[in-house]
Amino acid sequence: MNRRMLTFMIVFLCAAAILAAGALAAEKKESAGDEFAGSKACMKCHKTEFESWNKTLHSKMVQKKDDGILKAVVEKWATDGTNPGPTKGNVSGAEYKLDDVDLVAGGYWKQRFLVKNPATGNHQFLDKQFNRMSGESEPYGQKNDWEFMCATCHTTGYRLTAYDPANLKDAKATFSEMNVACEACHGPGAKHVKSKSKKDIFNPLTLSKAEQSRLCGYCHIRLENEKFKTPQGNFREDFPAPKVGDTFKPWDDWTKWYPEEAIIPGVHPEDKIDAEYKGDLKGMFIVDDISKANGVYEEGKHHQEYQGLIQSKHYKENIASCVDCHMPHAGKNIKQRVAKEMCKTCHGDTYSYEKIMPGTGGTAKNLTVRTHTFLKGQSRASKPTASGTPELYKK
Ligand code: HEC
Ligand code: HEC
Ligand code: HEC
Ligand code: HEC
Ligand code: HEC
Ligand code: HEC
Repeated sequence: MNRRMLTFMIVFLCAAAILAAGALAAEKKESAGDEFAGSKACMKCHKTEFESWNKTLHSKMVQKKDDGILKAVVEKWATDGTNPGPTKGNVSGAEYKLDDVDLVAGGYWKQRFLVKNPATGNHQFLDKQFNRMSGESEPYGQKNDWEFMCATCHTTGYRLTAYDPANLKDAKATFSEMNVACEACHGPGAKHVKSKSKKDIFNPLTLSKAEQSRLCGYCHIRLENEKFKTPQGNFREDFPAPKVGDTFKPWDDWTKWYPEEAIIPGVHPEDKIDAEYKGDLKGMFIVDDISKANGVYEEGKHHQEYQGLIQSKHYKENIASCVDCHMPHAGKNIKQRVAKEMCKTCHGDTYSYEKIMPGTGGTAKNLTVRTHTFLKGQSRASKPTASGTPELYKK
């Protein structure tokens, strides 16, 4: 080997080592969650999208108490003599007051209250929820930490960072921000924030209609997750990425994640839609003579819009995805779609959503969300659904 050749070899090897180190650093960075920029960063260049998204419930799912607690909740907490607000933590059993509440979950249909769980450092629920339509407190018994039971669907960029089945109490999870933010549907955006390039950000429009609905279905679904357990030792109801350290990306096909350990009725072929289920899945579809005669099973509980839609002609014949009726925000080239005004654009006056989409999916006492099966000749009467705008407490 002559000297020039040797120099070349050394330079080449050094470059390779630097590249490898760079790749490693990039990998490390990804696992720390730095690839997410946060919705405030997107706001700078996408004001229309940000402001319209900020008016939807996606931006309001889990909030600090002072930002999101309902006026009626504060007024009735201690003073409603016959039916006061919550008093105890569901995991620790200890007593808590309104002042102890750290976070509130929801507020359109119902509101639930989160305080610290001293045993794990996570959050536990209080023993009552507030029904916005009846204005009453109702018993609520969820005995698992929010971070390990609900948070995958209520945050963006959720990931498990430590999980040992033999030591559940020390499991750890993080997320890039609370609520269903820009990057839940567009994927990690830090690179795009710097480059402003189209090729560094994901647009759900590049998916097929079935895949668009699958993206929304990651959260608008009801399932039992037997792979990962909560610190309290129970199966989860949400669906974190199979590998510890990884997070859901909007293009992921989650229907293929740990299929043996996830029961997803109506989605996994072996989990029959008309079967009887146990636990949280019990009663998730209405299995009665009307359903059997139609071969269409309306949702019996809330957050299963995907499992309703996939039974419909709209889905099976590639006619309409979730996004065709509910565009989650406005944009330069798009109009935010108001679902109940969309039927007319394709059907004229043939179908009214009130008749085709009765309230069937229970979310609180005597309160439901609408079915998404789009059954022609739907004959079920609607149970009460929510309407109006929640009134927040102002300090
Ligand atoms: C510094 C300005 C800037 C910031 C910050 C920014 N974007 Fe963009 N974004 C752009 C520009 C410019 C385009 C148009 C690119 C083009 O047409 O080539 C764009 C395009 C997009 C598109 C459309 C891509 C397509 O395929 O049509 C999406 C989606 C998007 N941005 C999402 C986001 C999200 C989510 C964030 C926050 C994580 C964000 N942007 C932050 C400047 C920005
Ligand atoms: C990361 C989880 C997640 C994803 C992904 C998701 N959603 Fe949601 N969605 C929620 C949660 C949680 C709520 C309830 C928010 C609340 O009540 O504060 C919600 C509420 C809604 C609502 C009712 C509230 C409103 O503001 O109109 C609609 C409609 C909706 N989602 C449609 C969609 C569509 C369409 C998609 C896909 C493009 C989608 N969602 C993707 C979690 C998600
Ligand atoms: C698989 C995803 C998923 C899981 C797991 C999940 N949720 Fe939700 N949740 C949703 C979606 C989607 C909605 C809104 C659509 C609906 O209710 O049909 C919602 C709605 C809510 C609402 C009503 C919001 C409002 O504005 O009134 C509350 C409160 C709530 N969830 C609390 C919880 C709690 C507490 C847990 C954990 C025990 C939990 N959720 C687990 C997806 C999920
Ligand atoms: C619940 C899912 C969801 C969330 C949350 C969401 N988007 Fe989108 N976004 C979409 C979908 C779906 C499209 C494609 C729709 C279309 O063009 O018809 C889109 C399109 C876009 C586009 C292209 C717009 C255009 O005019 O062509 C931009 C830019 C964008 N989103 C930015 C954002 C920003 C910024 C946020 C947060 C403030 C955000 N999105 C939150 C689902 C979402
Ligand atoms: C993007 C266009 C589009 C939108 C929006 C849309 N539909 Fe459809 N829908 C269709 C098409 C196309 C068919 C199939 C042809 C037909 O049966 O009319 C269909 C079929 C149906 C059927 C018959 C299903 C069957 O089993 O035969 C019902 C019921 C229905 N739609 C109700 C609704 C309702 C209610 C809305 C509003 C919430 C709505 N559609 C919004 C395009 C649409
Ligand atoms: C054919 C149109 C259409 C499609 C497709 C569709 N929706 Fe809806 N959705 C509606 C209408 C109409 C309502 C009632 C809106 C209202 O009351 O303002 C609704 C209501 C909802 C609600 C609020 C629950 C309630 O009772 O108001 C959620 C959450 C929701 N849809 C999510 C989804 C998701 C997720 C998908 C895809 C899996 C989807 N929708 C597909 C038309 C549609």
